[in-house]
Amino acid sequence: MENLRALVNRLQKACTTLGDHGENSTLPTLWDALPSIAVVGGQSSGKSSVLDSIVGRDFLPRGSGIVTRRPLILQLNRIDQGRDYAEFGHHAGQKFTDFVAVRREISDTTDRETGRSKKLISSVPIYLSIYSPKLVNLTLTDLPGLTKVAVEGQPESIVQDIENIVRSFIEKPNCIILAISPANQDLATSDAIRMSREVDPRGERTIGVLTKIDLMDKGTDAIDILEGRSYKLQFPWIGVVNRSQADINTSVDMIAARLREQEYFANSPLETPGGRHQIPDSWNSIAEHLDGVRPGSEKVSNVFDNLLPAALEKLRFEKQLSMDNVRKIITEADGYQPHLLAPEKWYPRLIESSLATIKGPAEAAVEAVHRI
Ligand code: GDP
Ligand code: NA
Ligand code: MG
Repeated sequence: MENLRALVNRLQKACTTLGDHGENSTLPTLWDALPSIAVVGGQSSGKSSVLDSIVGRDFLPRGSGIVTRRPLILQLNRIDQGRDYAEFGHHAGQKFTDFVAVRREISDTTDRETGRSKKLISSVPIYLSIYSPKLVNLTLTDLPGLTKVAVEGQPESIVQDIENIVRSFIEKPNCIILAISPANQDLATSDAIRMSREVDPRGERTIGVLTKIDLMDKGTDAIDILEGRSYKLQFPWIGVVNRSQADINTSVDMIAARLREQEYFANSPLETPGGRHQIPDSWNSIAEHLDGVRPGSEKVSNVFDNLLPAALEKLRFEKQLSMDNVRKIITEADGYQPHLLAPEKWYPRLIESSLATIKGPAEAAVEAVHRI
């Protein structure tokens, strides 16, 4: 499965190199057909915190308000050995080993696309690959947080614009939705569940994640949620305690945060009218080694693995994608170095490659590269 996921990662990377992110296209592209995972939830529900804990590193800008303002396509790659490093799609070839610099670059490149106002969003994704011996091969997309009202300085359309960006990712039948809902808000008002229900009404490809269990009011219904009685999903709900803003301000590190979460779940059984319960299924209930593969990523990748073979088979038949042209796409994309060309030279061709999919995505992508 690690190899199969690695293949999907390489295909996704090839698509991105070729400018095919699936977004804003009315035609099916190769990207659309590949299985992927998108993180969805309301503003400040804990999306970036969950992603950080899946990766096991602090590298996402985090905080109150609208921090994630462009989709971030995050590709996790397992390497055999060596130091962790990151590489951006827009800085191909430059290895970042300092994750503070990665966080800064995400903010800077967001500003470059949306302006510095911190209030605007863009559907143009940021592409980031992380390489580490501790990761599983997986591609996840962090999406801008859903919101109910525009704040001062934002256009009225922002609520709808964010929804449209989110929907463009999660409506793809091969997209697994990591739906983040905070435990200190009523599940009935959860933006993540609202959006997920719209595109996946039977909960067949949604993983529910309940965050902020430490902030929940006493006697609320977390157990009902986690045991699937409030909203039934095919996969088990996952409960988490991420770092609070105070923890972030005082630089509580990832390992300390994991230990605290574990301690929290061990010592704070949930009080409900029916009695005291342990959290049935948390990130950590299967964690054996804090330094090993992240338990969260393992759970998510298990679900992914369940869906992967069927998705790839479908891809092969529906898209007539032979292993030969899969190999061809990868070879072409590997040899293609967009950073050597000025954006105005390659960008129109990339758009073309996204739109030319009428002939079948694989052929179109390969053809587009030939034309460069
Ligand atoms: P996003 O906007 O959905 O990406 O949310 P963030 O991950 O940026 O988190 C928003 C804020 O909530 C930050 O200040 C986090 O520290 C805080 N937060 C997230 N998850 C939890 C949690 O489980 N418990 C507590 N106490 N705070 C959390
Ligand atoms: Na936020
Ligand atoms: Mg965020």
